Amino acid sequence: MNKTYKIMTFGCQMNENDSEKISGLLKNMGYTPEEDVNKAGVVILNTCSVRENADVRVFGNLGTFKSVKKVNPDLVLAVCGCMMQQPEIVKKIKEKYPQVDLVFGTHNIHQFPQMLGNYLQRGERIFEIWDDSHEIIEDLPVDRKYPFKSFVTIMNGCNNFCTYCIVPYTRGREVSRQPEKIIEEVTRLADEGCLEVTLLGQNVNSYGNDLKTGYHFADLLRDLNQIEKIKRIRFMTSHPKDLTDEVIEAIAQCDKVCPAIHLAIQSGSTRVLKAMNRRYTKEQIIDLVDKVRSRIPDVAITTDIIVGFPGETEEDFQDTLEVMRACKFDSAFSFIYSIRTGTPAATMENQIPDEIKHDRLNRLLDVLRDISFGLNSKYEGRVLPVLVEEPSKNNSDRLSGRTETGKLVNFEGSFENIGKIVNVKITKAGSFSLTGVEI
Ligand code: SAH
Ligand code: SF4
Ligand code: F3S
Repeated sequence: MNKTYKIMTFGCQMNENDSEKISGLLKNMGYTPEEDVNKAGVVILNTCSVRENADVRVFGNLGTFKSVKKVNPDLVLAVCGCMMQQPEIVKKIKEKYPQVDLVFGTHNIHQFPQMLGNYLQRGERIFEIWDDSHEIIEDLPVDRKYPFKSFVTIMNGCNNFCTYCIVPYTRGREVSRQPEKIIEEVTRLADEGCLEVTLLGQNVNSYGNDLKTGYHFADLLRDLNQIEKIKRIRFMTSHPKDLTDEVIEAIAQCDKVCPAIHLAIQSGSTRVLKAMNRRYTKEQIIDLVDKVRSRIPDVAITTDIIVGFPGETEEDFQDTLEVMRACKFDSAFSFIYSIRTGTPAATMENQIPDEIKHDRLNRLLDVLRDISFGLNSKYEGRVLPVLVEEPSKNNSDRLSGRTETGKLVNFEGSFENIGKIVNVKITKAGSFSLTGVEI
């Protein structure tokens, strides 16, 4: 029997972390990784629904497996992730993609080994999806990509129902892990040599609210900061409405908590923010960013922006540009609004034509490039601690790593230091990365 596997992951870090768990489960069953889909015994597509192009890519990939299965008839094709929490998508797969053998969702990853076993025994297609989950399944094995840095999911789901977003429907309601479980996991990682953890949740600032014990995100940061061998603690994402003074204070006071906040604002127009159900205003964003910058010197603040939300006028878009200039975000992911069936915004009037969306995106990118370049140039000549990650993507004679503020640095240095924190002198700043030499 061919006990090899390949996982293809789409979407966010949450999905990447889930794929690490699926990989861990498969390794426990005696499977080994295989890069080539034509040779693998099991292929798993872990899907994302956040924007339409993610859907399109997954269906494109599924299409190609018709011919892969002709060459490799014993291949087991499994599909999981956020798209599988949408009944209409599952129906389409059932009816039109017979090459898919196994389907599971975001809430029942732990059942995968059993499902695979059943499939291999009986050869009948299996579709098993849960609507929601009320507790987090602990102690799944995790096959981590890097020994020196790790994702740690601290909560699942989202309660915010931003009107454009599919995530609350695909990931269910917020469920926080018990703090002891998180502390235990991070302590174990540290003992195994991990230096950096990234705490994951759709809105980490509301961590603990559902536990109803009075233990919140700031408490978790303070507790994790005590774990001796951990050197860096990152977290994402932060929702502006929940970034409280307590959290800002904890970030400022905890030496290992990196001064880097991914604060997704989505728009700078109070009117659009209201229609998005984001629950803050243009002025509140500017005040919050000012407060964070004055309390945490040298902090890097990054964001997400959506252009072309239904009804967004040129004036609304100008508000977004104004907020970008006022807040000087270190970098931003910008997205064109994508209609997600089942969300309130999908049926709103005044959907924005594609040309206008593209034009706004391009204008936003121009502004962002200038801001990032301006902010990055202040690093020139400075010496910064960098966690060395791997050979640089565009020049394998060099290394790449990240500063505490999360900036990508490409530099000349010793390959023996991969996985360690070294000092790098920054020689040149670009809009998207820094260049330097290890000293
Ligand atoms: N929970 C995170 C984000 C999850 S989705 C947060 O609230 O910050 C990642 C990003 O995708 C969002 O921040 C948003 O900018 C973008 N996004 C979500 N739905 C979208 C849609 N329908 N169209 C375009 N971008 C979208
Ligand atoms: Fe989506 Fe909003 Fe929840 Fe983020 S906070 S996952 S954008 S609903
Ligand atoms: Fe995509 Fe699901 Fe993440 S929709 S962005 S993979 S939570």
